[in-house]
Amino acid sequence: MKRTLLISLVSCLLVINQASIISRCDLAKVLHQEDIDGFEGYSLSDWLCLAFVESNFNISKINENVDGSFDYGLFQINSHYWCSDYRSHSENICHMECSELMNPNLLSTINCAKNIVSGPGGMKNWVKWRLHCSGRPLSYWLTGCRLW
Ligand SMILES: *[C@@H]1O[C@H](CO)[C@@H](O)[C@H](O)[C@H]1NC(C)=O
Repeated sequence: MKRTLLISLVSCLLVINQASIISRCDLAKVLHQEDIDGFEGYSLSDWLCLAFVESNFNISKINENVDGSFDYGLFQINSHYWCSDYRSHSENICHMECSELMNPNLLSTINCAKNIVSGPGGMKNWVKWRLHCSGRPLSYWLTGCRLW
């Protein structure tokens, strides 16, 4: 009995853990459906590369910065400017709670990301995109993905 309970608990935790990772092609599909391809001049591959370098496709990733702010979700969106987590001052430009940025339904996350990329600097707002994705051949990010 105890053993069965333990096994179900462990498999349940495994499922939860896996659920936070979205596959590359699933992400490509959602982004494509949300019409992000070409938005502000950035390709679908730019977004995939961005999500990979920022979070390894981990929807529930949280990272604490040295200034006390936090980065949330797939695109590691920062609480100082874009969302509110009630932990420190926030401009809350996306008018949302940071926890929404970890929702498996990516609509709010995508809307906030669109908001960021529409501003000055575009995708350069993400330092890791500038360092690891910008100006590189990126089309391989879509290899094997069916978008419709
Ligand atoms: C995803 O991020 C969360 C929070 O940072 C972490 O606890 C979890 O282990 C990560 N998942 C994987 C599979 O790396």
